[in-house]
Amino acid sequence: MENTRRNFIKKVAAGSSALAIGGIGYGFSAESYSRIMGANDRIVMGIMGTNGRGKGMAANFAIQKNTEVRYICDVEEKALQKGIQAVENAVGKTPKSETDIRKMLERKDIDAVFLAPPDHWHTPAAIMSCVAGKHVYVEKPLSHNPAEGEMAIKAARKYNRVVQMGAQRRSWKLLTEGMNLLKEGVIGKPYMVKTWYTNNRGSIGTGKVVPVPANLDYELWQGPAPRRPYKDNLIHYNWHWFWNWGTGEALNNGTHEIDLARWGLGVDFPTRVNSVGGRYHYNDDWEIFDTQLITFECEGASVVWEGRSCNGTKVEGLDRGVIFYGDKGSMLTGHDGYTIYDMDEQIVKEVKSDVVIDGRNTSSPAADLDNVHIDNFLQSVRGKATLNADVEEGHKSTTWVQLGNIAQRVGRGLTTKPETGHIIGDEEAGKLWSREYEPGWEPKF
Ligand SMILES: NC(=O)c1ccc[n+]([C@@H]2O[C@H](COP(=O)([O-])OP(=O)(O)OC[C@H]3O[C@@H](n4cnc5c(N)ncnc54)[C@H](O)[C@@H]3O)[C@@H](O)[C@H]2O)c1
Repeated sequence: MENTRRNFIKKVAAGSSALAIGGIGYGFSAESYSRIMGANDRIVMGIMGTNGRGKGMAANFAIQKNTEVRYICDVEEKALQKGIQAVENAVGKTPKSETDIRKMLERKDIDAVFLAPPDHWHTPAAIMSCVAGKHVYVEKPLSHNPAEGEMAIKAARKYNRVVQMGAQRRSWKLLTEGMNLLKEGVIGKPYMVKTWYTNNRGSIGTGKVVPVPANLDYELWQGPAPRRPYKDNLIHYNWHWFWNWGTGEALNNGTHEIDLARWGLGVDFPTRVNSVGGRYHYNDDWEIFDTQLITFECEGASVVWEGRSCNGTKVEGLDRGVIFYGDKGSMLTGHDGYTIYDMDEQIVKEVKSDVVIDGRNTSSPAADLDNVHIDNFLQSVRGKATLNADVEEGHKSTTWVQLGNIAQRVGRGLTTKPETGHIIGDEEAGKLWSREYEPGWEPKF
């Protein structure tokens, strides 16, 4: 049987000898693949990374009309099985399994991929997918660093692929309605936006270097990232809090709310970025910040992101959210819906969704709302819609928060170009615009 443990190990071994070089360029022609999609608009999907987010999304993709999840790819056996099981449960059909994304991308019958591996893999996998002629739905944050985001845009355009970032709020109906009202001036001119994320996350402890478990291909899990010893408190999920693979709470969750701030204000990049914060709550291996306040200046407005990973005290009654302040009133939003207040704090209009949203759920705040973004992607692949969160918008929002992390790391404010987000006159900060890759794994396209 395809999915047994023995076969998993066998396939990993075969995969690593056949694909010892981590290079990315396969030279597929995007056009030759776009012809493969059937006349009936059927879309065949491959899914990468199915422990948490990818498991639920695999099932969500599988239930879409005229869509088949034919491949699940994961480098850890239990996670692979979770993805397969999720699709089986959703539609009663067993997808094929794969452990090496490069092998999966060789499959000519795949039209599009959904990518939900750890952050260090996002852009490299998105680029590999474009080169292989696949359309891409890549989870947020688009990239591990801003230079990668720029590469992802170039690759999407070069290979003419539909590339969507998992900023699913961009497809939520009531939120979109609220954003349109903002643009129509419902609160006058919005000039300050406060965004936040709160949680009560526990300690990740102090990890020990131990042998890599037999059910994990740690070499492929690390992929583009420089090699580090395997520790027992890293996989799954905790990689979020280490710079080599993760991007911290600011990118993990702040990307969503900063995306809304940018959307509501209609701005591309900030002109100044500052940050305060630290790892305060626990003394453990967690490298990034558990508490952070990033401030942004952009043309005509200020934006703030407050992140508290280990103190879940809500703001405005919400575990995460966004409030726009204008010269005629305010709008509170973030979940699918919005509340408009006048200058005397009286509610002018309140629109609420029936969908239950859990802002702290680490896989999906609301699966039903994920489906709307998935549908937008699939319809865009079919040429029947345009993306709500195109790679370029994803890059802008991701870069904002990355700049916040860079400011925090160098310990001073940054001046940035409003057209590109590029850092002006700070060599040390500029070095954090990109990253080093494990030799042989540099993104190529
Ligand atoms: N849009 C959203 O609301 C949302 C919600 C949750 C998570 N996410 C994003 O989804 C991503 C995954 O998050 P998670 O919580 O599921 O993490 P996780 O660590 O639980 O799962 C990641 C999975 O990727 C697999 N993986 C690693 N390298 C791989 C490779 N080379 N090929 C195939 N699989 C590989 C891991 O084995 C694991 O199963 C993150 O980037 C996160 O930011 C987005």
